[in-house]
Amino acid sequence: MNILQIDTSVLGDNSVSRTLTAEVVAELRKQHPDATLVVRDLDKEAPAHLSNSLLPILGGPKDGLDAIQQAELERTETWLREFMEADVLVVGVPQYNFSIPSQLKAWIDRIAQAGRTFRYTENGPVGLATGKRAIVVSSRGGVRPSEDALDLHEVTVDTVFRFLGITDITYVRAHGLALGQQAREAGVAAARTAVAALNDEGKLAA
Ligand SMILES: Cc1cc2nc3c(=O)[nH]c(=O)nc-3n(C[C@H](O)[C@H](O)[C@H](O)COP(=O)(O)O)c2cc1C
Repeated sequence: MNILQIDTSVLGDNSVSRTLTAEVVAELRKQHPDATLVVRDLDKEAPAHLSNSLLPILGGPKDGLDAIQQAELERTETWLREFMEADVLVVGVPQYNFSIPSQLKAWIDRIAQAGRTFRYTENGPVGLATGKRAIVVSSRGGVRPSEDALDLHEVTVDTVFRFLGITDITYVRAHGLALGQQAREAGVAAARTAVAALNDEGKLAA
């Protein structure tokens, strides 16, 4: 089993999602001691935002690229390969300004490639990254307005993963982190309960 751990928080050692992605991975490795692990830290190596000059690295002819484009092409191909080879994605997704961290969006803009991770058909788009599980560690200062809805930042990740063909998505939520010490501890405890309940399939127990 190949695990791809993606961390995106800018809070370094104070990050809750980073602590929890590590705990999720430790839980998975307990169950699968021979699992391989790739850790991608999108804070330490943030992808440059997609721009007109970087567009050629996503498609079309690759000759004539300048040194920057060539380097970005190589980084992109590494990220894309890691993504496609992963059986389980463990992704830390804090809510920043009502959305996902821009580092994660920039990574998505690199790996969402027509003909590679999805394709268009007469009947609409089809995801090519099938057979994977995603465990999303969702952290935020506030709380969801309702228990049965995805949170704002979760909607983006959920929509992108499903578009790319990943339908097995589990949420480990640490919410209410900015609502005082008691709420913070309760949010982290709820997430740890969810991590402990990850069963052999990497899903939450019913
Ligand atoms: C730049 C920034 C923006 C934030 N925006 C939001 C927000 O829109 N909604 C929210 O509930 N919390 C927000 N927070 C709080 C974070 O979601 C919270 O600190 C959480 O712990 C982040 O996860 P992390 O510790 O892994 O970084 C924000 C924090 C930062 C640093």
